[in-house]
Amino acid sequence: MAADRDDLERIRQAVNLVELFEGVTTVRKVRGSFKALCPFHTEKTPSMSIDPVRGLYHCFGCGVGGDVFTFVQETQGLSFVEAMEVLADRAGIVIRRDPRAAQQRERRSRLVEAVAEAGRYYQDRLKSASDAGHARSYVRGRNYGVEVVDQFELGYAPDQSEALVSHLRGKGHKDSDILAAGLARRVGRGRLIDQMRGRLMFPIHNVRGEMVGFGARLLRGEGPKYLNTPETPLYKKSELLYGLDKARSAISREELGVVVEGYTDVIAFHLADLPLAVATCGTALGEAHFDLLRRFSSRIVLAFDADAAGAGAAVRGDDLRITSELGLDLRVAMMPEGRDPADLVFEDKGDLLRDAVDGSAPITEFRLNRLLGQYNLGERNARNQALKAAVELIARHPDTVARHQHAVYVAARTHMEVDLVLAEIERNATTGRGGRSQGHPRAHGRPAVTGPVASGPMDRSERDVLRHLMAGTAERERVKPELFDDDQAAELVEWLLEEGKHLEEGTPIPLDRLKDQAMSALAHRLALTDAPLEPFDDVMTHLERRKVHRRKNELLVMLGEMDPIQDQEAYSQARDELLALQKEGF
Ligand code: UTP
Ligand code: MN
Repeated sequence: MAADRDDLERIRQAVNLVELFEGVTTVRKVRGSFKALCPFHTEKTPSMSIDPVRGLYHCFGCGVGGDVFTFVQETQGLSFVEAMEVLADRAGIVIRRDPRAAQQRERRSRLVEAVAEAGRYYQDRLKSASDAGHARSYVRGRNYGVEVVDQFELGYAPDQSEALVSHLRGKGHKDSDILAAGLARRVGRGRLIDQMRGRLMFPIHNVRGEMVGFGARLLRGEGPKYLNTPETPLYKKSELLYGLDKARSAISREELGVVVEGYTDVIAFHLADLPLAVATCGTALGEAHFDLLRRFSSRIVLAFDADAAGAGAAVRGDDLRITSELGLDLRVAMMPEGRDPADLVFEDKGDLLRDAVDGSAPITEFRLNRLLGQYNLGERNARNQALKAAVELIARHPDTVARHQHAVYVAARTHMEVDLVLAEIERNATTGRGGRSQGHPRAHGRPAVTGPVASGPMDRSERDVLRHLMAGTAERERVKPELFDDDQAAELVEWLLEEGKHLEEGTPIPLDRLKDQAMSALAHRLALTDAPLEPFDDVMTHLERRKVHRRKNELLVMLGEMDPIQDQEAYSQARDELLALQKEGF
């Protein structure tokens, strides 16, 4: 424990929770209590309630709650101890620590300083050393201007065995720290030699922005293309995401994070004006990475190149289950054939990056498609096998509505009854490996944040009403094609309503009789999306209100253009209609 109880209490007393909230959202005083728009979910009316006296908050919309410490943890993505330090600083309180913790902190800050010094040294070499000419040409060849070199602090590690070590010693760093920071290793009877030599250096920062290690690219000669700093007290690759320090605020703002393959792809996204990308550092994407990302966004898009059987394979099956348990909406963006993000930006096709991200598909859809593609679905035996494999995949999904929608899709593709597929899934889900939770994020602190989900240009409410209609959870009578702006959506609504006439309310509408290809593609895409689904009544009301609102504007314009005397009848008709609409309270 780094601080004693008294310290925590003193911090709590000294920090005003309302002021903290004011840093991230608008706070209003309502009859003696404080209300704010919740910074943890998207909303239009304030449901966050703040009690500065007790130092507690609670959101009646999404259920998050906590105190000054959790607030700083959640909004800044910090650990408890880190949050405490931030708040102590803010309140001007010096934390009384036990001496061991103090020692550890001192050592840690020495290591941070050593890595930072190494970063400065490498960068200085890249910019001016006479033996770094080839590194400079490489950087130029990648179209990295000086802004990129500065923003990403790129550097060059000289191809000598003790260049960095002697530089650091000269700056007063102890050998033990240089070793512990992973900057050098010991050979033979104790000589230290530089860890990285003759490579282009990509500094790696933790989420707080401290430089903790490096990715190092081979420039010439033989050897592995990339090397990374070995595990150190600062550099734990399972918990690090390259670029997150630079992307975190944009990721929060857009409710969208993009995971790419490596350093050069992260830089490419920045160059394409999409500062949303992060990459793992020489390891597979794992649970800790997801846990880190979800502090900033619940929507994560994997953007790997197309041929890398990649995108799907990048996430191990077990981790996939974890992502749904964490409440993440995990999607896959298909890069154009054989291209990674860095290639695209190099070819000045940065726009395609945005397109790929916007057109991303839910990972389960992506996997189902790949899986079903492996079977000859025209053949009964293969169809049964496909069904079995698909059911196994779907059963892992913790969300009932999503499972249902996937079932509808698989039923259509395999020409089976939806009920049969569903029954199989439910059987698998309850007996299956590890079972499943009921769609609740695990008790990791903050509930998953759900925000606007861009899955194509269609309005979110239109999309959700369609999803309810297909899943049998809509009040069909309320749904009218003319409420939809998207022509294709309107057409699909028409088809579904027609088809639904023969079916009882409350049953899903199978898509297998849908012949129109474009409509069918749309329907399947919607049926499979992992995006959070809003309650039917909410989204339907939104569409209805939108229509009324538009009609009101139309009437106002008409009235403005009419002559009340000359067009008396039309005028009073329009006015009556407007008054009637206004009475309805819209
Ligand atoms: P690339 O193989 O495309 O690397 O991997 P590159 O530096 O862009 O090389 P060329 O010019 O296309 O051949 C893309 C990213 O994947 C990571 C790196 O972060 C790299 O930036 N990577 C790649 C590794 O970590 N290790 C590897 O062995 C290869
Ligand atoms: Mn590349």
